[in-house]
Amino acid sequence: MAVGIFDSGLGGLTVLDAVQARLPDEEFVYLADSANAPYGVRTADSIYDLTVAATQRLFDAGCTLVILACNTASAAALRRMQEGWVPQDKRVLGVFVPLIESLTERQWGDNSPPREVETKHVALFATPATVASRAFQRELAFRAIGVDVETQACGGVVDAIEDGDFILAEALVRSHVDALMRKMPHPQAAVLGCTHYPLMQDTFQDALGADVKVFSQAGLVADSLADYLARHPDMRGQGESALLTTGDPGTVSTRATQFLRRQMQFTAA
Ligand code: DGL
Repeated sequence: MAVGIFDSGLGGLTVLDAVQARLPDEEFVYLADSANAPYGVRTADSIYDLTVAATQRLFDAGCTLVILACNTASAAALRRMQEGWVPQDKRVLGVFVPLIESLTERQWGDNSPPREVETKHVALFATPATVASRAFQRELAFRAIGVDVETQACGGVVDAIEDGDFILAEALVRSHVDALMRKMPHPQAAVLGCTHYPLMQDTFQDALGADVKVFSQAGLVADSLADYLARHPDMRGQGESALLTTGDPGTVSTRATQFLRRQMQFTAA
């Protein structure tokens, strides 16, 4: 049994780490499309084509369910994939919905009509492609009324993280938070809408201030996946755990090991 976890690069490891901790008996095949990262500066068509190819690779590895642990792919490609590409017996899920369900105080999978919620001023930090897609606002509008969302496209942060340059990543995060707070001085909540950003969570929290609640996806995706698999045990698929990359396995293994502070051995996808 194996569930597929996909990201353009290393960011989805924050999700992999959380789902492995939450579901220790489950097998996971992780695919990093490192050769084509970052996705956040690509066109929607390019993100769609790359995400379809990566998802097919995970189906070929025996997965029946694939989680797009990448907001950019979830925002720019998921809906189109679900409408016209995903085979009948397979499922592809994204990372926006669990986050928005949590933000709007809902049970997992609660599709009841939109209603008023506590949190009314939300800052969204994401890649340029995710911000341009407006997918976050669309999903939010299905569930909540009257929430004001201010977005900040965080150019450069994913590149810096993929390169292991955390000094640059920190400087960029601080300047993006600064820019956001000029547009929305008092956000109640901040959404880290890119799976790379939890690696910089302390910097985001520090720059935003202690009274801003920072939502990051890994734990929320893990909880909602556990709930989903309990309701759909047939979605567990086949295959064995693996870490795959389209990039150089040596370099990706070294970076991944640094990020998660445990041995991560990638092989060529
Ligand atoms: N980690 C990804 C996301 O959640 C993708 C970043 C990128 O490739 O630009 O958006």
